[in-house]
Amino acid sequence: MTDLFHHSIEVILTNQAPSGAYIASPNFPAYRYSWFRDGAFIAYAMDLVGEHDSARRFHDWAASTVLRHAEKAERAIERIQRSKPLGDDYLHTRYTLDGHEGSDDWPNFQLDGFGTWLWTLAEHLRLIADPLPFLWQEVINLTSSYLAALWRIPCLDLWEEHLDKIHPYTLAAVYAGLRAVGELTGDAGWLVTAEEIRRFVLEHGVQGGHLVKYVGSEATDASLVGAATPYRLLPPDDPIMRATVARIEANLRHQAGGLHRYADDTYYGGGEWVLLAAWLGWYYAEVGERARARELLAWAETQADEEGNLPEQIPHTLNDPRMFQPWVERWGPIACPLLWSHAMYLILLHALHPAP
Ligand code: BGC
Repeated sequence: MTDLFHHSIEVILTNQAPSGAYIASPNFPAYRYSWFRDGAFIAYAMDLVGEHDSARRFHDWAASTVLRHAEKAERAIERIQRSKPLGDDYLHTRYTLDGHEGSDDWPNFQLDGFGTWLWTLAEHLRLIADPLPFLWQEVINLTSSYLAALWRIPCLDLWEEHLDKIHPYTLAAVYAGLRAVGELTGDAGWLVTAEEIRRFVLEHGVQGGHLVKYVGSEATDASLVGAATPYRLLPPDDPIMRATVARIEANLRHQAGGLHRYADDTYYGGGEWVLLAAWLGWYYAEVGERARARELLAWAETQADEEGNLPEQIPHTLNDPRMFQPWVERWGPIACPLLWSHAMYLILLHALHPAP
């Protein structure tokens, strides 16, 4: 195992708050929050490396945060059932480390993080071979009901954009969460909704044989790898996944390097994201293409700075170089370390070298 393995674990543990929340990045003011999406993947990585206590503390934080805001989730469900607009009644994508809503403006209405969280929570229990704790039952039920009620309405994607669209990535995350809860609790109702979501994606989220960034678009997005790995809306070697990954490689990957999020991304100029390189490597490891997975692992490893910290993105080949400096002026240098980058690195490492 490389030093980056140990350093990644240390970065994550050091930046886990006493509450259990994982800060997205300690040195980047806009990221001094805990996201359900980032946190769920980080907790999963910690489970894979045997740091179950850390994962458990995150899940406890996530559960208590949803419960703290339960009234909003309940009102959201009610509003949707009565065909009323949501207004401010929805769960936020990120909360302060103490589980409160942030005070600054943020595009908060995103569903994918809750689907991913439910999936990782079920994985946590599977990996430690524990039954569902009584304290989590209510919150799992509420979160699943929330997702089952809201999945049909447009929300922001995982990059916190396109509020008015429906995103196959988001639906795949919700699918995985509901399926995991159905299997965990034995409540077949969640499996029925999950299957409905899967059919919707296949009907509306596929164009020309590959998954698309959002319904109605023809564009691709590197996160679509997630539809298979890990969400299993499709098997990794399904022809639709193969075509989707080929398109991601052709349009978003820079030679043997990392991946852009999508072709016209201009955030910090739109560089190559470390976590996406690791994610694609994870996919390749799952389909048995180990050489490709190793190449992506090696690329991710060489992006660590002299302290071993992995950033969010690498500004070498930018989609739009003019947009780099304006973001630096607005928010400072690129976030580093980004805990999600370290987590995806650990996940890829584990996919290639599972612990004995
Ligand atoms: C990304 C999100 C991520 C957040 C915190 C944003 O820039 O678009 O996907 O959850 O940063 O890492």
